[in-house]
Amino acid sequence: MVFLPLLALSLGALVVPVRGGVTYPDCTNGPLKSNVVNSPGVSRLGLSAYQWWNEALHGVAHNRGITWGGQFNVATQFPQAITSSAAFDDPLIERIGIIISTEARAFANNGRAHLDFWTPNVNPFRDPRWGRGHETPGEDAFRNKKWAEAFIRGMQGTESTHRVVATCKHYAAYDLENSGSTTRFNFNAKVSTQDLAEYYLPPFQQCARDSKVGSIMCSYNAVNGVPACADPYLMDTILRKHWNWTDQNQYIVSDCDAVYYLGNANGGHRYKSSYAAAIGASLEAGCDNMCWATGGTTPDPSSAFNSRQFGQATLDKAMLRQMQGLVKAGYFDGPSSLYRNLGAGDVNTQAARDTALLAAEEGIVLLKNDGILPISMTGSNSQVAMIGFWANAADKMLGGYSGSPPFNHDPVTVARSMGINVNYVNGPLTQSNADTSAAVNAAQKSNVVIYFGGIDNTVEKESQDRTSIAWPAGQLTMIQRLAGLGKPVIVVRMGTHLDDTPLLSLSNVKAILWAGYPGQDGGTAVMNIIAGLTSPAGRLPVTVYPSSYTNLAPYTNMALRPSASYPGRTYRWFKDAVFPFGHGLHYTEFSVSVRDFPATLSISDLLASCKGAAVYQDLCPFQSLSISVTNTGSRASDYVALGFLAGAFGPAPYPIKTLATYKRLFDIQPGQTRTAELNWKLESLTRVDQNGNRVLYPGTYTLLLDQPTLANVTFTLTGEEVVLDKWPQPPT
Ligand SMILES: *[C@@H]1O[C@H](CO)[C@@H](O)[C@H](O)[C@H]1NC(C)=O
Ligand SMILES: *[C@@H]1O[C@H](CO)[C@@H](O)[C@H](O)[C@H]1NC(C)=O
Repeated sequence: MVFLPLLALSLGALVVPVRGGVTYPDCTNGPLKSNVVNSPGVSRLGLSAYQWWNEALHGVAHNRGITWGGQFNVATQFPQAITSSAAFDDPLIERIGIIISTEARAFANNGRAHLDFWTPNVNPFRDPRWGRGHETPGEDAFRNKKWAEAFIRGMQGTESTHRVVATCKHYAAYDLENSGSTTRFNFNAKVSTQDLAEYYLPPFQQCARDSKVGSIMCSYNAVNGVPACADPYLMDTILRKHWNWTDQNQYIVSDCDAVYYLGNANGGHRYKSSYAAAIGASLEAGCDNMCWATGGTTPDPSSAFNSRQFGQATLDKAMLRQMQGLVKAGYFDGPSSLYRNLGAGDVNTQAARDTALLAAEEGIVLLKNDGILPISMTGSNSQVAMIGFWANAADKMLGGYSGSPPFNHDPVTVARSMGINVNYVNGPLTQSNADTSAAVNAAQKSNVVIYFGGIDNTVEKESQDRTSIAWPAGQLTMIQRLAGLGKPVIVVRMGTHLDDTPLLSLSNVKAILWAGYPGQDGGTAVMNIIAGLTSPAGRLPVTVYPSSYTNLAPYTNMALRPSASYPGRTYRWFKDAVFPFGHGLHYTEFSVSVRDFPATLSISDLLASCKGAAVYQDLCPFQSLSISVTNTGSRASDYVALGFLAGAFGPAPYPIKTLATYKRLFDIQPGQTRTAELNWKLESLTRVDQNGNRVLYPGTYTLLLDQPTLANVTFTLTGEEVVLDKWPQPPT
């Protein structure tokens, strides 16, 4: 068939708010075999309307493009990315991507979803106030790159046809919903070239250049004065040209109403004087598809076209990219094509349920343990108080952009099914003067108290940032009362950032676990860990900041490096963490050592030996790191090997340390020694100069294993510095 994009009206309906799903058109038979196509649907040709807006951040979700019901009334709901990221297990992330895309494809094959999904969210979690941080893999650019790599491979597959099209969002430097009168619709993120190239963009480089993701979403905010969805520097110079994201089937979609808010809309950027001019600016800058939601007036691209706000060639290109994206996903192929056999039997399988539970168990982080965990909840500990707002509330465990899970395994239900005598009392979330008497009574008749608190996604959510990261006062009062009874208290914290300092000063708070948003089987995961049926080995993918941080770091300050009273951001620069990035205790002890590593390597040898091995020099493999890990304690456990780099090389100031490589090792038995190879690439050794160039510098490097450091090795790179990625400079 011929792809001759039709002009005008087709564009006005790029996001069609249809109810019900898609019927695949058939290009191998019937009229479409020799005809042109467009996006709002042409029934004569067997083309139904296509809804581009489908969500699946951690499982097929409830949203416009997806119709739940019948045999498709549930889908696997994995932990949010912040929790699965804490597992530091990228093969697991790929398996999650495979399951989500398999279920998504099964929905689509049955007319209940479409073929492109607006996932993953890879913006680094820069500020602890951000309401959408839990959708992301955390605060570290390298971690987010690796998470995105594994997830996209799972979602899109490795065949020539995409299983579904993944969409990396939100391009770029989007990590603020609202801070006073500054909102995501009008925020102008002022970002230095160095921070842009080093921190805000690498996850998108991974998506575009290295993972060849099918789609990228431009964000609401402006970057250095230009709204992202109208920025040719971001969308053309960097994304398409520098990252070679030039396949005909790769397209940019705007966040919903982003184009509206870059025009003359109230509350927006007022970057253009009319909606028509905004549409033109966005399309001409390289955006291909405009989503609008409810906030905006319906866009009228036809009149924008007629008033010459954008040209025919631009329209043709945009249409072609989207249609080719659907071609790449097999949308026009016949019923016997790849993935078309997936159906209801491929949704909510036992393997999917097992993976959702495993992801929650692997992602839970043991923040503190005075030796009380694991605990037997039988015999002398047979009465267990379970207190708090999510002890008995399974839906809380899902977080934003969720679908319907197959079951409700909250902690209380799971504990009862384990035969534990539970004394359950609900608790406050944000209420400050909650009555604690029922909770105290339950605790008094119990041997041990488990408190399920923190925050949920009514507190941190899309379009709602926080102003404080202190524990809510009512919950703190409750924990203090419970800790004052002389019984051991275990705190299980959900949600993202809270400063645990006040809990650490309570001697009866014997253990703290962080679960984030653990997904459909989070209750089972938490209880399995508390009972010792599985051992915790997750590591924090964020810094736990003191609550004073929100006074020291203005939310709108995008700078990563500290200066004067400004404390800097992330573990790379911030020195006074309550718990640092990478923190996570075990039920056992490990010792680690590095096996012989060369003391000196020459930069020219490294590059010479890479000839032909990688298209881009930053992807050249580096000497793999051979480590030896011994479980010196008495319980079997996984172990996440984290390798950080530190050293005075490259441009000052120098970061405290930078994550360079990692690997999760499984089920190391007491007394057992395991060896492992940690692979890394030259990118992990580079630093970024003030012009954004990624440079390999000569100097002395220290590889630090684990957090806190258990072993280190020092090596020297000799020779001249080499730019591995020359950064395109912004327009002046
Ligand atoms: C750019 O992308 C195209 C298409 O994916 C590919 O064929 C080509 O090798 C890439 N060029 C580089 C330098 O990677
Ligand atoms: C590296 O290990 C040596 C002992 O082998 C120790 O003296 C030194 O303090 C360590 N350095 C760092 C930065 O941890």
